Amino acid sequence: MKKLPIGVFDSGLGGLTALSELNRLLPNEDIIYFGDNARIPYGTKSPEVIRKFALQDTRFLLSKGVKAILVACGTVSSNCLKEVAELAEIPVVGVINASAKKAADIAKEGNGRVLVLGTSATVNSGAYETALKDNCIDKISSRACPMFVPLVESWHPNSEDAATNAIVSEYLSDFAENNPDSAILGCTHYPLLAEIIQKYLPKTQLVSSGACAANEIKEILEKQDLLNENGGKIEFYTSGGADLFRLNASAFLNGEINGEVAHIDIEEFND
Ligand code: DGL
Repeated sequence: MKKLPIGVFDSGLGGLTALSELNRLLPNEDIIYFGDNARIPYGTKSPEVIRKFALQDTRFLLSKGVKAILVACGTVSSNCLKEVAELAEIPVVGVINASAKKAADIAKEGNGRVLVLGTSATVNSGAYETALKDNCIDKISSRACPMFVPLVESWHPNSEDAATNAIVSEYLSDFAENNPDSAILGCTHYPLLAEIIQKYLPKTQLVSSGACAANEIKEILEKQDLLNENGGKIEFYTSGGADLFRLNASAFLNGEINGEVAHIDIEEFND
């Protein structure tokens, strides 16, 4: 069991931010990454469609014999993590709980204010509000930032770029005065905008949801004595084109990805 890989999935490339953190924390684990590039974005879709896609993604990872799953996608984590966990029957970690706890801990040292940034589907789900209230935080603001994903997907964000500044300012200027203690980057893509988000929220501590989830899965594997000491291989699968995935993933991570990339037909992974 220890030698089995960890599965990670996302609607596309964004989950690579969580994968990098997981690989940094657990370099001896084999990892299977699935990016649903053919069907991105999830964040603008209905809860029913998100659930259908998430269960297909989970069945694919289970077919690869994974020992645990990291749901890197904020949209899936906030809309149907329970259904993914029920199907998987192995440890499943989403990006909500650990990042809500970290953001709450930071806010408790300040004014008690937390800002949640995510896709429309994540914000509409109310999952972060519930998790923050469970951590005794009730001064919560939420902002859906639907332009952030296409912004990150279309070019590598640059903090000096005028269009990037206009979009980030449009979403965040109202919150600078409110002075949140912490802001949850509740979407896989947002860590790539961290520098510029910070510019508009200068006094706010940014919390990356993917990095928090990677920590949580490490703790679970340690507790269950499931850590691998001899692995380290990463395999990438995409519902889109393998060559395009490799090219864009390298740009996304600012360096060549290390591992094989293969195309799969995700529609085959039904009930
Ligand atoms: N992976 C999604 C998330 O973290 C962002 C991209 C999308 O909308 O599919 O919410």
